[in-house]
Amino acid sequence: MSKTHQFLQKSVNFPLSFICICFIYCGFLFSNFANARGFDSLLKQFSQLGAFRSILESRIVLNVKDYGAKGMALKTILRIIIPEGSHYLVRPISLAGPCTSKITLVISGSIVAPHNPDVWHGADTHKWLYFHGVDHLTVEGGGTIDGTGKEWWESSCKIKPKNAITFHRCNNLVVKNLKIVNGQQMHIAFTTCDGVAVSRLGVFAPGGSPNTDGIHISASTNVEVKDSTIRTGDDCISIVSNSSKVKVRNIACGPGHGISIGSLGKSGSCDQVYDVSVRGAFLSNTENGLRIKTWQGGSGFVSNVKFEDVLMENVSNPIIIDQYYCDSSKACPNKTCAINVENISYVNIKGTSASQEAINFACSDVAPCEGLYLEDVQLVSATGGITTSFCWEARGSTSGTVYPPSCYSSCSSFIKQITSSIPRLQAI
Ligand SMILES: *[C@@H]1O[C@H](CO)[C@@H](O)[C@H](O)[C@H]1NC(C)=O
Ligand SMILES: *[C@@H]1O[C@H](CO)[C@@H](O)[C@H](O)[C@H]1NC(C)=O
Ligand SMILES: *[C@@H]1O[C@H](CO)[C@@H](O)[C@H](O)[C@H]1NC(C)=O
Ligand SMILES: *[C@@H]1O[C@H](CO)[C@@H](O)[C@H](O)[C@H]1NC(C)=O
Repeated sequence: MSKTHQFLQKSVNFPLSFICICFIYCGFLFSNFANARGFDSLLKQFSQLGAFRSILESRIVLNVKDYGAKGMALKTILRIIIPEGSHYLVRPISLAGPCTSKITLVISGSIVAPHNPDVWHGADTHKWLYFHGVDHLTVEGGGTIDGTGKEWWESSCKIKPKNAITFHRCNNLVVKNLKIVNGQQMHIAFTTCDGVAVSRLGVFAPGGSPNTDGIHISASTNVEVKDSTIRTGDDCISIVSNSSKVKVRNIACGPGHGISIGSLGKSGSCDQVYDVSVRGAFLSNTENGLRIKTWQGGSGFVSNVKFEDVLMENVSNPIIIDQYYCDSSKACPNKTCAINVENISYVNIKGTSASQEAINFACSDVAPCEGLYLEDVQLVSATGGITTSFCWEARGSTSGTVYPPSCYSSCSSFIKQITSSIPRLQAI
């Protein structure tokens, strides 16, 4: 990285605060160099291109506001604008910090990925748009980011697909008011970020497209996702690894696989997910509603999760905890350790279930679920008939009306049931 910086300073003589921006410029210009294979080769081409800056300026509007911080010019805000009506074909790019300024990337036009996965051969990056180590970044603008994923989906067994947009180690990040469509794989992934505010996103891919999660949150903390619509082929929102303090508000989801915590604990890994709050969601025709899934043999925990004010329409597994998650065709062996699932609340969850088993708590023999809580739950059949609950090693309590009735398996719920039936006995 430092080599690249020197190179830019010498040959282009940009002020320091522009340097990280150059990375972004470079990426957007990829389309102009048919043979550019990677980022470095692009930079080399720039060195032979005297008029580099004017080309940039004719294509991208740049506004720089220098707030004249005391001493070092660290408070500069750089705005890069992809204007409305413009279209950029962008090859895989990596945009690296640290940056000396706050950056706002305004995408009002559209950014499109090459449709052919072969373009990735030999490229350094493993993602399409990869931002890493850039703090105080804002991406907004009302435009569209199109992963052109069709050929990736068709060959998804042969080639390892890439995420469309990845933010890695980006702290104090804002992503808002954008449309992200047809991701090669996951649409937008946050990995190891602290402080993320996501709002007003529209994420769209066909219901049958494989592994196209909408918003993926991994090993990140202080994340808020709100006022967004996600219709894809996999999880609308997936929360994995060591993520905590995640707030989800006002989400429309479906088709897709619903809102998912996990999978966790794969290959014996230790995952700790806690303080997750989902309030205000409409799930329509999704394969799952609110799901927690863990592999056997992992360690760690999922705790303090609250799902609240959720409306479901024809959802196949509206409420599900699966501690026996296994995605291989043969059964995974039973293990002697498991992720602890504790203090999971479902409050005001209403709507219709496409399957009879509207509530499914398949908890671990070695680490039973503790502190499950159902309050004002009404999940009726989408096709008429009854709905039922399934419980295995699930311990918890209920309040208000709960349909289908809960089926906890523990002594603690037995005590609660006895207590709650006393008034009825007296009435007789
Ligand atoms: C999660 O955190 C725990 C405890 O700090 C650590 O042991 C584990 O390796 C972390 N897991 C991942 C996937 O980063
Ligand atoms: C409800 O969901 C089921 C299962 O996904 C599907 O087969 C059915 O067509 C859906 N019904 C409606 C009315 O969308
Ligand atoms: C694993 O445990 C579950 C639940 O106790 C049981 O139903 C299943 O048969 C077991 N599987 C194997 C392969 O032992
Ligand atoms: C679960 O809730 C109980 C009661 O509020 C609390 O004592 C316990 O510490 C919680 N467990 C976790 C893992 O936060």
